[in-house]
Amino acid sequence: MGKVAVGAAVVCAAAVCAAAAAAAVVHHRKKSSGKWGPVEAMVKEFEEQCSSPIGKLRKIADAMEVEMHAGLASEGGSKLKMLISYVDNLPSGDEKGFFYALDLGGTNFRVLRVQLGGKEKGVVSLHSEEVSIPPHLMTGSSHELFDFIATSLAKFISSEPEEFHPPPGKQRELGFTFSFPVRQTSIASGTLIKWTKGFRIEDVVGEDVVGELTKAMKKTGLDMRVAALINDAVGTLARGRFSNQDVIAGVILGTGTNAAYVERANAIPKLQGSLPKSGDMVINMEWGNFCSSYLPLTEYDRALDAESLNPGEQIFEKMISGMYLGDIVRRVLFRMAEEADFFGDTVPRKLRIPFILRTPDISAMHHDTSSDLKVVGNKLKDVLEIDNTSLKMRKIVVKLCDIIAIRAARVAAAGNFSILKKIGRDTVNAGKKQKTVISLDGGLFEHYNKFRTCLESTIKELLGDDGAETIGIEHSNDGSGIGAALLAASHSQYLAMEDS
Ligand code: BGC
Repeated sequence: MGKVAVGAAVVCAAAVCAAAAAAAVVHHRKKSSGKWGPVEAMVKEFEEQCSSPIGKLRKIADAMEVEMHAGLASEGGSKLKMLISYVDNLPSGDEKGFFYALDLGGTNFRVLRVQLGGKEKGVVSLHSEEVSIPPHLMTGSSHELFDFIATSLAKFISSEPEEFHPPPGKQRELGFTFSFPVRQTSIASGTLIKWTKGFRIEDVVGEDVVGELTKAMKKTGLDMRVAALINDAVGTLARGRFSNQDVIAGVILGTGTNAAYVERANAIPKLQGSLPKSGDMVINMEWGNFCSSYLPLTEYDRALDAESLNPGEQIFEKMISGMYLGDIVRRVLFRMAEEADFFGDTVPRKLRIPFILRTPDISAMHHDTSSDLKVVGNKLKDVLEIDNTSLKMRKIVVKLCDIIAIRAARVAAAGNFSILKKIGRDTVNAGKKQKTVISLDGGLFEHYNKFRTCLESTIKELLGDDGAETIGIEHSNDGSGIGAALLAASHSQYLAMEDS
């Protein structure tokens, strides 16, 4: 049995034990007295299981740091893949010109044209189009998916005004952000290791992603060069660095989650001596696949994992990211309806539908400031078709959103802290207050305020007063799009000509 299969078996076995334990608890709850007694007991129990005191977060960060070392030491040495990105020179800020980006990583993908204006002007202009990916293409064949992407790109280009047409003999250049685990073979080539975030197209796994895209582009008659293949976390780091040279890591908290950071090349044994000139290498951690016995996992997480498209994988991601938070809330509500009649005698039909409650819904409910929790009431009605909820019920729903979002934010903070520890930026060295900045991006970070503020304060709590003073947490706007254009610029085939 391979490593992943063993991991899956352990998680599944744990899920079975949890189910047996849960049955015993149900019996106990049904006997609790008072209308709200059983519900309150369930909430309390869940809250305890999700708790993430600072000591536990430190253990999680330590465990992640151990895995980082193991993943850097050898291929397959850890659940953390610690992938070499072939980005050994991050943007200096001097990048100039028009570059294109394709950003694929969730249910939408985007095509962008970015004009870079160097240090003085930064990002001068950005033109982008967003296309939602028809669900059947996320599980269909690779040709269909890549043909769809290439056709959308061709449409974008064909509608461009004359002024953007490259001079004769010059090709347009593209950075391709492909936000899945890819084993890169160079800056512009790499093979897909596995899908995440609800994609499952078997015939691309193991294939050269750029080759697939190039073939599809040729079919549409597009003459464009893929100058860089990157992950969105790497793009976020590059975007951050373009405007701020103190940025050392890029973190994505969106549909999925991941981090990339700058590692000293001589701390990466698996580079086997092929050290880049700069002495640094950006590592795509693929931290979504992290797992540790210190993670405050519950029976709901185990059930979500067991029923997912990738059981036993991406356990950290399933606790933290936007694709899953809403569904954890739904699962708890469903169990409360079934075992403690939370919504009355019958279990609301819609509560049975996986992923019907999305993270933006729980964010809206969590931020409801109205005295009668009107937003919560409306969401329960509109999304789950649950009418006539009492204020007490709505308060309990908000409480669940809070438990789940705060656990996610605190555990994500431990991940950030582990990077700082790994590169020795968690303490003030010999009184030197070296500024360190982490660039973050993704819908969860950007739009879920309570998540973001808890993440930021927990990172600072982990660092302590001195450390906290030297750390900056920045939103890297559109890291995955602009970052790809920036890395296309720094890997342009025309750079050498300009220099000569
Ligand atoms: C993928 C990563 C990606 C992250 C954020 C994860 O599911 O494995 O490659 O960076 O999502 O988009």
